[in-house]
Parts: sequence; structure tokens; C-alpha cells
Amino acid sequence: MFLRHRNLAIYLVIAVVASLFLWPRAPKWPSVHNRVDLEILNVTLGFQHIFVINLSTRTERRDAMTLSAALSELKITWVDGVAGKDVPDNALPGDPTTRQGAFGLGNKGSWRAHMNVLQRIVRENVTSALILEDDADWDVRLKLQMQAFAQAAMVFTQPSNKHTLAEKYRDKPHPEFLVTQLPLMTRARDTPYGDGWDVLWLGHCGTEFPATTEPYKPSPLRVIIPNDMTVPSPSHLRAHPFALQDNLAQEYPPYTRVVHASSGTTCTQAYAVSQRGARKLLWRFGLQTLTTGWDLMLRDWCDGLYTRPMDPSTNEDTWGSGRIKTPVCVTVQPPLFSHHYGKGAASDIMAPGGGFVNKETEMTPYVRISVRLNMERLISGEEAVEQWAEDTEHV
Ligand SMILES: *[C@@H]1O[C@H](CO)[C@@H](O)[C@H](O)[C@H]1NC(C)=O
Ligand SMILES: *[C@@H]1O[C@H](CO)[C@@H](O)[C@H](O)[C@H]1NC(C)=O
Ligand SMILES: *[C@@H]1O[C@H](CO)[C@@H](O)[C@H](O)[C@H]1NC(C)=O
Repeated sequence: MFLRHRNLAIYLVIAVVASLFLWPRAPKWPSVHNRVDLEILNVTLGFQHIFVINLSTRTERRDAMTLSAALSELKITWVDGVAGKDVPDNALPGDPTTRQGAFGLGNKGSWRAHMNVLQRIVRENVTSALILEDDADWDVRLKLQMQAFAQAAMVFTQPSNKHTLAEKYRDKPHPEFLVTQLPLMTRARDTPYGDGWDVLWLGHCGTEFPATTEPYKPSPLRVIIPNDMTVPSPSHLRAHPFALQDNLAQEYPPYTRVVHASSGTTCTQAYAVSQRGARKLLWRFGLQTLTTGWDLMLRDWCDGLYTRPMDPSTNEDTWGSGRIKTPVCVTVQPPLFSHHYGKGAASDIMAPGGGFVNKETEMTPYVRISVRLNMERLISGEEAVEQWAEDTEHV
């Protein structure tokens, strides 16, 4: 199944590219084109690296991730997790009195592990990298999903004229574009996902649609990917009773995926950073601020909490013209990566499932044809199957 889809995508792309060259009046290829980028099909999904953080001492997760990556033709680079007890208090940034009560050893280790990856990205001048936690799972059709995501993300990361569409439409309450009807945008230089981005938040356990047109808040623009048969039926979009605020099933027809700026996004199963994003994040959370769990700080950062130059008492712009732009964090509903819940297993750090998981069954929220759940079949060369019966008719 996986192979069949991949081959189909490659033929499609070749056909499109060939028609551009063969058709005499076709626009010239290099200057402006929303290209379906072949680099996204490579073993690092068009990023320079895929780092996987080993957040626990559980060797079975390393085995499983290694197999998942191999079965999906992905090349991963391991980075060691950090135990909270190994992080001395004088290495923590910020004012200890601002740290939330629940900030424990698990948070400390996880924060440091993520900082170490960001540090490495900055040190090695990595253009862009995907960072995964070691229990992340994805669909066998991930590479095709990433191509569609990249097309949609360009609205936030590439100018179509002088500004990105997200900037151009920022004052409209709920501007929407169909991914199939996007205007031409400048061809990206740095990454197949565009040039002007900080974070692509690809795996989360819940997000909101940005609702406001206030300055220094994430753009309210949405890009719609209709009839995406890798999206679960609406009954499986409420994967998380308390952290999940997704309004997707209420607002859109079944099998719609929506790409938009992050807002209230939580859990860091998978996120990509650009070099510029890594520098900003390492400065902010390596040197300045440490108040709570890493995913919650990243949520606030993407929401513009640290870059909105407002004095809360007067609601005035306190930095005058010296404005710092809201970070460009792009996310997607439903997410493309999700937390895999093993049979009877509980997460070692602050479990994003927090007890809702039925411990008798293995599952991965949001992922229809999960690599983890199909591992045995894929290894034996058999076809992977849907996780939920409701979806089986919709392929
Ligand atoms: C995949 O493509 C990206 C973007 O061009 C590139 O940076 C990366 O090195 C490629 N991965 C491999 C393993 O060649
Ligand atoms: C994960 O990293 C920790 C800390 O570096 C190490 O103690 C542990 O052995 C690693 N676990 C696996 C499964 O490799
Ligand atoms: C980092 O990479 C960028 C883009 O590839 C390059 O322009 C810059 O000079 C590099 N910086 C260092 C310190 O190597």
C-alpha cells in the first residue's frame, strides 16, 4: 500500500514536471512556481535532519522507532534524553519564583533534552530539522501528507507578492484558502517548506484555530485540504478529552485537513525548526525563561506571548518601533504525528494522555494507517490496514 502510493506520487510529479517542459506556453520553471517538492520524499522529509529524542530509559521505544523509521524509508539521528536529576539548579534560566508548582524532574529533563537538540542545530548550522519524541507515530502515507502540508504552509512562509498571504489577510476575521486554489508564490530557497518560518508543529495533542486579528498574535488565515482520505472520520477526531480543543469536526466536512498558524497548541511529539527558529528558541528558553513544561512554553511562544510588545497595565506598545515579529509557527489539524499508546504502557514524562487511554488496546490518536500498529504486517510484506472500521469504506 505504502509503496503503491509512493510510486503514484512520483509518477504524478514526473508527469507534472514533464508537462511543464513539453508544453510550449507553460510558464518558465525556475522563477515562480508552487512546486510539489520532490525533496520532501527524501529520507529526512526535506529537512536536513530528523532528530529523535530518547526521553526515557526504555529500550523498547528505541527498537520501535528504529523499525518505524526503516519501514517508512526515514533516516533518524538519535539524541540522548536527559534525566532531571542531572540538571543542576544553577543551570536553569530565569527567575525560580516564576516556575509553576508542578515543574518537576520530568519537566526539567525534557526541557534540557529539547534545549540540547536546539543547541546542536545552532552549533552545526542546520538549515532545518524535525524533532521527534521517541513515542511518535505516523501514517504509512506520511510523505504524501507532508507534500500537501508543504503546499499549504507556503501561505505562511513564502511571499506571493511582497507579503505572505497570511500577512496580507491578517485583518480579515476568518480568511480561508483551498490548497488547490493558491496563487503563485516565490520559490523557496532554504527549505521545501518555505523560507520564513520558525516552527512547523506537526505532532500535537490539541490546538485551536487562531481567532483574533490583533497585532502580535498568530495569523487567523486557514488553508483547507479537502477530501483527504488520510484524515480519520469525525468520531475519531476527539482523541483527547481534556487537552484537545480541536474544533475541526464541528467546523468542517469529514475528511478535511486544515493548516493554520499555531494557537494554544500542546504536546511536542513532532515539530520542525528552522535555523532562525532554533536560535530564537535557544535564546529565549536556554537563557531567559523557564517557567513550566517545554510544550507549554513553546505554545506560549508561538502564541506571541514573548514577542507582543504590550504593557499589560496600559495595553500600550512598550517597545515603540523596535518591534519583534510574532514567530511564524504553522500547525495542522489533525496532526501528522501523534503519540503512540502501547498496550498497558504509561508515558514516563507528563503523559499527554493523562489516563484517558484504554490500557488494554494499543492505539495512536489521529493516525488511520499507523506504522506502529501495522509493524508486523509491514515487516512481513503485507498490506497495512486501517485502525478504525468506520474509515475502511472511505479510501
Ligand atoms: C533531503 O532534502 C533536504 C532539502 O533539500 C536536504 O537538506 C537534505 O539533506 C536531504 N536529505 C538527505 C538525506 O539527502
Ligand atoms: C536514553 O538516554 C538515556 C540518557 O542518555 C540513557 O540513560 C538511556 O540508556 C537511553 N535509552 C535507550 C533506550 O537508549
Ligand atoms: C550557516 O548557513 C548559512 C546558509 O547556508 C550560511 O549563509 C552561513 O554563512 C552559515 N553560517 C556559518 C556560521 O557557517
